[in-house]
Parts: sequence; structure tokens; C-alpha cells
Amino acid sequence: MGGGGEDHVPVLAEAAVAWLAIRPEGVYVDGTAGAGGHASLIAARLTTGRLVALDRDASAVEKAAARLRPYPCAMVRQANYGEMTSVLAALGLGPVDGVLIDAGCSSMQLNDPERGFSFQEDGPLDMRMDPSAGVSAAEYLAEVPEVELAEALKRYADIRLARRIARAIVRRRMERPLTRTSELAEAVHDALDFVSDMPDEVRTVFQAVRIAVNEELRWLEAGVREGIAALKPGGRLVVIAFHSGEDRVVKEALKQSSRPRRELYPDGRVRAVTPAQVRVLTPKPVTPDAAEMRMNPRSKSAKLRAAERLPELGG
Ligand SMILES: C[S@@+](CC[C@H](N)C(=O)[O-])C[C@H]1O[C@@H](n2cnc3c(N)ncnc32)[C@H](O)[C@@H]1O
Repeated sequence: MGGGGEDHVPVLAEAAVAWLAIRPEGVYVDGTAGAGGHASLIAARLTTGRLVALDRDASAVEKAAARLRPYPCAMVRQANYGEMTSVLAALGLGPVDGVLIDAGCSSMQLNDPERGFSFQEDGPLDMRMDPSAGVSAAEYLAEVPEVELAEALKRYADIRLARRIARAIVRRRMERPLTRTSELAEAVHDALDFVSDMPDEVRTVFQAVRIAVNEELRWLEAGVREGIAALKPGGRLVVIAFHSGEDRVVKEALKQSSRPRRELYPDGRVRAVTPAQVRVLTPKPVTPDAAEMRMNPRSKSAKLRAAERLPELGG
């Protein structure tokens, strides 16, 4: 694996820690360990507590483990946060006091051309957070039907000329397979050769392909669900999203979990009512202040939402 460039700067770090309301003896999960930025802030606040830090990327696990070495309360595992309840069960750790998900990808992933996330430097067209699983971006783009690709570009990055770009990618792959990041960037430029002011389009196409390849929104929804399931009453879930598609998933999943759910018989009678699981603590998302945005431009689009697990009723 390549160097990964400069380290990842944790976004909304103080806010994330504050919304987790960390108890020194509590058990916490950081579902997205990355470079261990948020995780080390959590670990530093624990005395007898534990921190389980997960990442699906083996090189992030290595990096976070090194950063967390001074904190014996912390353990780092390679795992998908969408499967955190089984990871916790395997570790013999019961309901937890807090879960953090800092979605998306890290600066180490984006800045390392060998990982294939970078639209600025040439590299193999991979983009997998866990390169040992699933299909690479090259394999995805070789097979995905044009209509499905256009939908992914629209859904995952709000791309206006999605159909035109999808058509250009498919036309190009019929000549020869796309295997390099520079070839994907060229295909986008070809599709947009008639427009002068779309400087962001290559970046957003890379974002959409990355989200599709890693099935990020599906896992984010599962992560919110699993995070809530892992919490003890009074425990907190904090999620940081970086674009509208991610934030929509988080907002909707929290909304669903904050309402009682009714199961109906076909004739409309109520069969069962599942009580609300959480109280949403942030009616509006928390965003970085001007100083953080200046210091870390990657933070500009960040939105943090927090919820608290409600006590079980009855029983
Ligand atoms: C924004 S970075 C996290 C940075 C971290 N909070 C820090 O302060 O260094 C997101 C990380 O989440 C990981 N990730 C993304 N989706 C994941 C998933 N479903 N399960 C586990 N890790 C995931 C990525 O590999 C990446 O390392």
C-alpha cells in the first residue's frame, strides 16, 4: 500500500466528543477509526472504560492501532460498522454507551494514488476501502448497465448531466476497458467538452463511483440501525455525514427510529406496535464553524446528527 500523504484531520472533533457525552467508565464504539483522530479523543477521556475502533480498511486499522497504542482501553479491529453488533458480541461486550460513525473516506485513502480514489493523480481504478473484498471501480465500470450508472451518478453525487457522462463512459469501455483513474477522468472530460464551467464534475463522478463500489449508503443505513441496536438506554449515537445523499440516509433512519412503528394486518387492524427507540438530540444538524472550515476545507460539507437511546418500555 502506498504512503497515503498527509494525515486525516478529524472533522467536528470537539462536537462529536461533546455529543457522545463520554462517561470515563463507559464502553464506546468508533465505527470509522481512520487515522484514529476521533478515537484517540474518546480514548483519552476513558478511565476504566473501553473503546472498540473499527474500520473496513486494513491500512486504516494499522494506522489507528499505532495512534491508539498509548491507550490500553482501546482495541482496533478490521470490520464493517454495519456488522458492529456481532463484532461486539464476539468480544463479549454488551450494550454500549456511545457509537460514532464518521462516514465517507479518509484523506489517506483520497491522497494515495495507488488506492484509485484520486481524480487528480493517475493510479489503478480501484476505490475499494477494503481491497480484499468486492469489485474494484474498474470491474464495476466494465459491467454496470448505462441506465444504472446514470442513476448512481445522480443519486450519489447529484450530477446534472449524469446520462451524458454515463453514455461517454460506456462508449469508452466499448473501445477498451477503463483501468486507470486518468482514463475515467478523461471520459468525464470528453462527455463535458461542450461546457466550460464544470470544474467539480470529475470530483463528483469519482465520489459517486466510490459510493457505488463500496455500497456506502446501504452500509450507512445498516450502521445507524446497528449503532442504535448496540446502545444501552441513555447511550448516544453520533453520525457525521459529508454530502446530501449520506445526510438524507442518516436523517431518515433516525426519524424512523424515533417514532413508534405499527405493524398492520391486511385489513388495517394494528397487529403490533414497536415503541420508538431513540430521541433525536439535534433537530438541525450541527455544522463546523468558519474557523474549522478555513483550517480544514474538507469539513465544509459536514453535518453531525446525534440521538439518544430511549429506555425499553414495560418488561
Ligand atoms: C472519514 S474517515 C474516518 C476518520 C476518523 N474519524 C479519524 O478521525 O481519523 C472514514 C473511515 O471510515 C471507513 N469506513 C467507511 N465505511 C465503513 C464501513 N461501512 N465500515 C467500517 N469502516 C468504514 C473508511 O475506510 C475510512 O477509514
